Amino acid sequence: MAYRWTNDLTDRDVTDEAIYLNRRQLLSGAAAGVGLAGVAGVAHAADLEPTSWEDVTSYNNYYEFGTGKDDPAKHAHRLTTEPWSVQIDGLVDRPGAYAFEDIMSKMTIEERLYRFRCVEAWSMVIPWNGFELADLLDMAGVQSGAKYVAFETVLRPDEMPGVARPVLDWPYVEGLRLDEAMHPLTIMATGIYGRDIPNQNGAPLRLVVPWKYGFKSIKSIVRITLTDSEPPTSWNKANAREYGFFSNVNPEVDHPRWSQASERVIGTGLFARRQDTLMFNGYADEVASLYADMDLTKNF
Ligand code: MTE
Repeated sequence: MAYRWTNDLTDRDVTDEAIYLNRRQLLSGAAAGVGLAGVAGVAHAADLEPTSWEDVTSYNNYYEFGTGKDDPAKHAHRLTTEPWSVQIDGLVDRPGAYAFEDIMSKMTIEERLYRFRCVEAWSMVIPWNGFELADLLDMAGVQSGAKYVAFETVLRPDEMPGVARPVLDWPYVEGLRLDEAMHPLTIMATGIYGRDIPNQNGAPLRLVVPWKYGFKSIKSIVRITLTDSEPPTSWNKANAREYGFFSNVNPEVDHPRWSQASERVIGTGLFARRQDTLMFNGYADEVASLYADMDLTKNF
């Protein structure tokens, strides 16, 4: 099978889902986790049941390609992802356009099996491949005045039929506080199930912040800017009452129009299984301390 980036996938070059799952059983039997050694508290990832490749890549939100769940899978093949570069600027020592290949040659690609919880109250479990965002930011050299990180998705009206409609204020933008961005759970995903990440999931690289609602995980990133003030974010601009800057998964703070106490598990059939939503999406041990002094009902 063809990888664009084979440098450090060696023992992770999974060819399909069946092999992935089989290998995973072996690993969990040996209490080895899923390539997550070293990340505090992620050992319990071995208990998670990954959502199928089919579901992860056909039930998507990527409004630049339309608002239907199947629109991204239908239209995102039009996005050109080669060549690709990421502009890293703002409060960094080494600003510039970083070519995707150069980034990949310097980063360590790991496998991370994460829960993924959309603000729409559905969830998946996704075996991402990617690298820690902190490593990329270190490469650019974060300056001491930086407090936030702003992200921007590519905007190509010729390739993105959805942007003809003003559903959101394009380009899609997102942001994190610097400590959130530097947290070891925060990754830039470049693959799923050991394969290059499909366009509908945000090729060639997208953010994944597993303790926050899925819309924080911005796709197809072309710009990362270090700033000293909170950056605007697309869904907050669209409706500040419903979507806050933090958007941490919190079963105790309902969306104004629906409960966040439970979630529909994608891939469990027509009468999908529901399960209780966990505080910080199950990553409270790792990240609750980031918000120790905050009122989470106000800072939602
Ligand atoms: N990024 C961009 N650029 N455009 C989008 O519409 N949707 C967000 C997020 N990132 C979105 C985006 C939302 S609402 C979710 S739930 C996740 O992507 C969905 O990711 P997935 O399709 O890979 O599951």
